[in-house]
Amino acid sequence: MSENFDVKLDNKSHLPEYSYIDNTWMGRYEPAYRRFLDDPERFWSEIAHELDWIKPWDKVLEWNHPYAKWFTGAKLNITCNCLDRHVLGDRRNKVALIWRAENDLEERVMTYRQLHTQVMRFANALKNLGVKKGDKVCLYMPFVPEHVVAILGCARIGAVHTIVYGGFGADALNSRIRDSKAKIVITADVSYRRGKAIMLKSIVDEAITNAPSVEKVIVLRRSNLNVELIQEKEVDFYEIMEQAENYCEPEEMDSEDPLFILYTSGTTGTPKGVVHTCGGYMVGTYYTTKYVFDMRDTDVHWCTADPGWITGHSYIVYGPLATGATVLISETVPDYPDPGIWWKIIEDIGVTIFYTAPTSIRMFMKYGEEWAKKYNLDSLRVLGSVGEPLNPEAFEWYYRNIGKSKCPIIDTWWQTETGMHMIATLVGEKMKPGFAGKPIPGIIADVVDKDGNPVEPGIGGILVIKTPWPSMMRTIHNNDERYRQYWSGAGGYYTAGDLAVKDEEGYIMIIGRADDVIIVAGHNIGTAEVESALVAQEPVAEAAVIGKPDVLKGQSIKAFVTLRVGYEPGEQLKNDLIYNVRMSLGPIAMPSEIEFVDTLPKTRSGKIMRRVLKAKEMGLDPGDISTLDE
Ligand code: PRX
Repeated sequence: MSENFDVKLDNKSHLPEYSYIDNTWMGRYEPAYRRFLDDPERFWSEIAHELDWIKPWDKVLEWNHPYAKWFTGAKLNITCNCLDRHVLGDRRNKVALIWRAENDLEERVMTYRQLHTQVMRFANALKNLGVKKGDKVCLYMPFVPEHVVAILGCARIGAVHTIVYGGFGADALNSRIRDSKAKIVITADVSYRRGKAIMLKSIVDEAITNAPSVEKVIVLRRSNLNVELIQEKEVDFYEIMEQAENYCEPEEMDSEDPLFILYTSGTTGTPKGVVHTCGGYMVGTYYTTKYVFDMRDTDVHWCTADPGWITGHSYIVYGPLATGATVLISETVPDYPDPGIWWKIIEDIGVTIFYTAPTSIRMFMKYGEEWAKKYNLDSLRVLGSVGEPLNPEAFEWYYRNIGKSKCPIIDTWWQTETGMHMIATLVGEKMKPGFAGKPIPGIIADVVDKDGNPVEPGIGGILVIKTPWPSMMRTIHNNDERYRQYWSGAGGYYTAGDLAVKDEEGYIMIIGRADDVIIVAGHNIGTAEVESALVAQEPVAEAAVIGKPDVLKGQSIKAFVTLRVGYEPGEQLKNDLIYNVRMSLGPIAMPSEIEFVDTLPKTRSGKIMRRVLKAKEMGLDPGDISTLDE
């Protein structure tokens, strides 16, 4: 972790100028936070009591640093809270999902009753294929309603889903399937992006050639390409649905049984399989969806993420459905067919809560506010941001042009590992552009030095979470040692890997990562994976990648490469190396720049010093280089 540094805080703040929305469920921030501090377990148990449990818990929390168990002894099935309770209650015919195709020509609508039936049929279809509680199922799908059906179908029978973002390439998919030992892979013939079909099924074919755990591949055929299936091994999504019964009893899950594994990029080794469990994750995502977004029964919620990221898990699927919201899901990208598409959808559907990433906002700023002006955005009530710091310029643009100076901007800081929002400015509270906000009630966060001592306001330090929370990850799949590391630095607090600074009022600004994870357009890219995709290529001897500031994407990837003897640097070779990374990991992990160098800076023990490369690239002082090898 880096040493302290001074940060100039611009303490400009904002109150919503027009309507001052007051959060009605838990009340305002201060009293809610005090209520939490008075009795944390009671606080969480009151929230958990709003949900349906098959059997209530014996204890709210068992904390044995760094291991937490939440709602121990309780039995539940998360799908009962996302579906059954609405169907049995008064949301039976309420719209659960509205889907827009990427070409904006197709729309599908599903009520809670319809979604419930589809999920149960799919769950039965999985059972018919021999899938049992605890089995791992990998989803590599386009963003269509069947994706949500497949996720909840797994949860219904206690199968552990592991979703891989459909933009990843074959090698990235392969390493995740192998680490999770998935028995089933669910995919589709194609996904569409900017009008082009991407042959998902062929990527799966390649990814499973050396993944012996995979017994069956379920293929959703959505195009008219008539993709052929290999008998026995490959089955059609709707054929197996047709053969399945309508009703599926929910599997009785222990609160601490795993719900899913989601891979997140690291700086060393393979991606980390973050494990989330049923009870705590359900409570955390329900609470934050309802409180942080001030979700009401009339809301139409649109989170523009993909289910392949934690944002999609928590704030497209589980959280919003647990609150009984109408959820818009859309395959569209922000600028296709034109940069007005998202505003058009908001007008058409009447979206009230809109949650997106700073990188999209910056893209819209580039295209100009005219696109947003063409549409009526009056339905919007709450705007959210996630994935990277929302810089003050982007905040202002979002606030004025999309929120029309009446919608609060909820910047939410959290991670795959945290499962739910941790730091945010709640609806109705004073907003400070550039600051994510304060730890939400339920969370004790701080900025500390390397020994865990709080640093003064205005001084940068390590962002930590001091006490356990229900939706925290429980371990890293196959690597518990790596899990323990999260709780072993900075005085034994949970270290998030981010650097931050606090102001006098306790608002937290995220400065960036303390490690080598690069955030490109809001997506975590591990240096290790990109470097190994480069080194896997014959001409490359060694590679080091760094994140460079990028006005649109936040960061872009630059790779420094040394070549093996016999290979000459050149434009063609650069393009080949980039192309091969794209094919193996997918477009999001593609370096935008490659520089050939003779040597890479290393420590005496041989570790590449990326921060030296980064400092040099940006014309900055590399800091302490005493460990640099001559
Ligand atoms: O560096 C922080 C950044 O994204 C990291 C977590 O990435 P991931 O696990 O992929 O989850 C992204 C979606 C929750 C964090 O360690 N990050 C996330 N949200 C913010 C952020 N940085 C600044 N402000 C945010 N609101």
